[in-house]
Amino acid sequence: MEYADLLIEHHDKVVVIRLNRPKAMNALNDNMMNELGDALYKFDADPAINVIVLTGSDKVFAAGADIAAMANYTYADTYPGNYIGRNWEHILNVRKPVIGVVAGYALGGGCELAMMCDFLIASETAKFGQPEIKVGVTPGAGGTQRLPRAIGKAKAMDMLLTARMIDAAEAERTGLVSRVVPADLVMTVALEVAETVAAMPVSVAMQIKDSVNRAFETTLTEGVRYERRFFHAGFGTPAQKEGMAAFLEKRKPNFEGM
Ligand code: CAA
Repeated sequence: MEYADLLIEHHDKVVVIRLNRPKAMNALNDNMMNELGDALYKFDADPAINVIVLTGSDKVFAAGADIAAMANYTYADTYPGNYIGRNWEHILNVRKPVIGVVAGYALGGGCELAMMCDFLIASETAKFGQPEIKVGVTPGAGGTQRLPRAIGKAKAMDMLLTARMIDAAEAERTGLVSRVVPADLVMTVALEVAETVAAMPVSVAMQIKDSVNRAFETTLTEGVRYERRFFHAGFGTPAQKEGMAAFLEKRKPNFEGM
């Protein structure tokens, strides 16, 4: 399917979804978020895909929610209309790994969408910020919740209250992104990382994602118990048989279809 506001690229078991509204700095509007949900669900269900990469252009990941579209919203459009809630969080239902790749600005809703990815790879050009306060609102897609969990309260409060942007180096230092890569190499490296993950057993990748996300929702004891169920269940799967046999036979494992 062709999308108006997304570009799709296939790389074997990796699919790249690019946010694509270049004239509006990839501002996230209703159509783009509907299309993103559609694409995410489609690829999550596609047995030929193991990993999803979400990115923007080399200039901007996304400059936030579309201010032009929402400037005249009323309360009825937002709360009863479930603005954000109705179509921004489909990404949280995706069970396969989603790697975010940020070059340029990830601001407001753009930063929030990036933080809903499983981990982030940043270009040296990346800039992250939650400048909503400057347009007279609080963040609406988890900025006050995921940012402090990602980088700690002090840094998050600083960013949220002053609207200052952090660059890629500060984002890496604070743990917001996992790697920073020179601008001209970022997609190459991101695809290498995605292909590494895609070569692993997808069922185990999904269990790890499920378990790690559980860590943010429950106690340590419950979280470890949750993890242990997956570990035990692993002994009933082809991935465990193949992975351990390949190790003992000193060969590369083949996790195709696992
Ligand atoms: N919504 C709608 N349009 C946007 C936009 C946004 N969030 N961000 C940029 N644009 C548009 C601009 O209006 C401009 O359009 P025109 O060419 O038609 O005038 C075009 O994109 C290019 O933008 P600039 O001319 O401003 O480009 P710049 O390089 O000078 O600045 C920028 C880039 C720093 C990203 C700046 O555009 C900016 O500050 N954007 C707004 C960032 C922001 O406030 N984001 C938070 C939005 S609220 C939100 O996201 C709520 C939430 O939590 C869900």
